[in-house]
Amino acid sequence: MSLIRFCLLVPFLAPTLALTADFQKDIQPILEKNCYECHSVKTGKKKAGFVFDDLKTFKMDIADNDVAQIRPGKPAESHFLEIMVNDGKNHMPPDGQLSTGDIKKITEWISEGANFDKNAPKLAPTAVKKSLPPIMSWTNMDGKTIKAGFVRLDGENVVLRMPLNASEVSYPLAKLSEASQKLARDCAAP
Ligand code: HEC
Repeated sequence: MSLIRFCLLVPFLAPTLALTADFQKDIQPILEKNCYECHSVKTGKKKAGFVFDDLKTFKMDIADNDVAQIRPGKPAESHFLEIMVNDGKNHMPPDGQLSTGDIKKITEWISEGANFDKNAPKLAPTAVKKSLPPIMSWTNMDGKTIKAGFVRLDGENVVLRMPLNASEVSYPLAKLSEASQKLARDCAAP
């Protein structure tokens, strides 16, 4: 196609392309290129406990509560996006910067509900429970964040597995934020 014809076509195509961010077509390639190196089941690198190529695990990071990395429909409250945009301590990827276009696509995808595939059958709840991420973020009443894996509920306590030495620590549910208490109950549900 000649350049001139291509330029004439683009304004007509653009509104259609901009409508929806498709996870497989638009988002996955960005993550593959910029994140899988360190966050992937395939490469075996699970920095900070996060993997983004195993969608069952990744799905656990997507929920409308204040410990989830991605809050569907709320890009401004999604830590996942914040660390790509802002130059904080945990900037991702650590040695690079996503393009404005890539960030726009991810913002759109989160705004539109952060779905992997509109047509995909919903994951059975039991299948999701069995693949809890090894490390989740928990917030206590003082707003302090704890990174740990969920082990079980034990009466009024939640038993968490510490990432560094895999020791199990019992923590009073009542001292966690409301969202983290809910997360613990969701994790424990069959
Ligand atoms: C070169 C390796 C590398 C790449 C590439 C990389 N990460 Fe990370 N990531 C890390 C490391 C190391 C940590 C742990 C940092 C820490 O906790 O201080 C981390 C932590 C994280 C966290 C948790 C941060 C937090 O504040 O708790 C998220 C979310 C994350 N990465 C997402 C991403 C995304 C999304 C990409 C791609 C855009 C990406 N990472 C690319 C190495 C990487």
